Amino acid sequence: MSKKILVTGGTGYIGSHTVVELQQAGYEVVIIDNLSNSNAEVIDGIVKITGIRPTFEKIDLVDMDALKDVLNRHKGIDGIIHFAASKAVGESVQKPLLYYKNNLVSLTNLLELMPEHNIKGIVFSSSCTVYGEPDQNPIDESAPIKPATSPYGNTKQINEEIINDFVHSGAPIKSIILRYFNPIGAHPSGEIGELPLGVPQNLVPFITQTGMGIREQLSVFGDDYDTPDGSCIRDFINVVDLSKAHVIAIERMLENKSDEKVEIFNLGTGIGLSVLELISVFEKVSGKSLNYKIAPRREGDIEKIWAQADKANNVLGWKANETIDDTMASAWKWQLKLREKNII
Ligand code: UD1
Repeated sequence: MSKKILVTGGTGYIGSHTVVELQQAGYEVVIIDNLSNSNAEVIDGIVKITGIRPTFEKIDLVDMDALKDVLNRHKGIDGIIHFAASKAVGESVQKPLLYYKNNLVSLTNLLELMPEHNIKGIVFSSSCTVYGEPDQNPIDESAPIKPATSPYGNTKQINEEIINDFVHSGAPIKSIILRYFNPIGAHPSGEIGELPLGVPQNLVPFITQTGMGIREQLSVFGDDYDTPDGSCIRDFINVVDLSKAHVIAIERMLENKSDEKVEIFNLGTGIGLSVLELISVFEKVSGKSLNYKIAPRREGDIEKIWAQADKANNVLGWKANETIDDTMASAWKWQLKLREKNII
């Protein structure tokens, strides 16, 4: 019998791509999402790719009664992949309580119900933001956690601590914490991708929307950093590659392939690329000349960060495979598809 996985935030950007990979690997999927930053039509895109309609429950994880009801109606969940969270750094500074409530209570509710439902493991979406500005690059999992620069970043740190404390209290569960670098791109089919509501805060959707003429001009936040071209450096990781790591992680936990109760992995390519370099890649694969200007630095930005991903490579047997050209081409294909469907 196929294993059943609860994917919270399963209609979101990384969640939807992971649902596809899980289904293609033979898992049965139950999605929970409150649709606060996504759209139920994403599920049609998943069906187009996999031919399988995942179960979907529109509830808010902060609502414990609703969560209990879902778990009672969908018996036999083996593991959880927990994506659901608020993730806008700037908004978290404006509305800290919203972020603390959404991102902390949703996790404690899930953890509290796992033992009684015999759910063995939880994969948690964390971020390289927990490292702050690295003392050196590439950065590995043993690097110190730096004080968070936003309530959003703080929720990721606290979530990691909550998981550690709960597992080490003797709770009968395991966890794998995945620290993502900068996920970008879309499914090569063009059926699912990133769908930011309103003005995008993240770089790639802003680039593709500018390429499309939806935004007039991209602001490059700073060209006076201590980097070769002066713009910030990130480790841009393809979202499908990233999603595949979740399938490996869930299998590792459910099949008890490790003695460790909590494991942490960086998920990145190991390659640092600057904002200006990424713009060049976009121009090359789209054939468009991008309208951009150099603007002042954005507050709270990290100058440069890229992953040492050896642990994920060697222990999980996972590696980022896609090239940056193909990844940016997938982001552009998705943008063209959104226009074709008149979505934006
Ligand atoms: C941020 C968060 C990260 C979070 C991620 C997803 C921090 C330090 N990082 O990543 O934790 O998981 O968002 O929401 O809080 N840029 C421009 N112009 C733009 C937009 C971005 O130049 O219009 C630049 C930024 O200055 C940065 C790079 O592009 O140097 C990447 O920015 P972004 O896509 O927002 O991701 P991060 O800030 O790295």
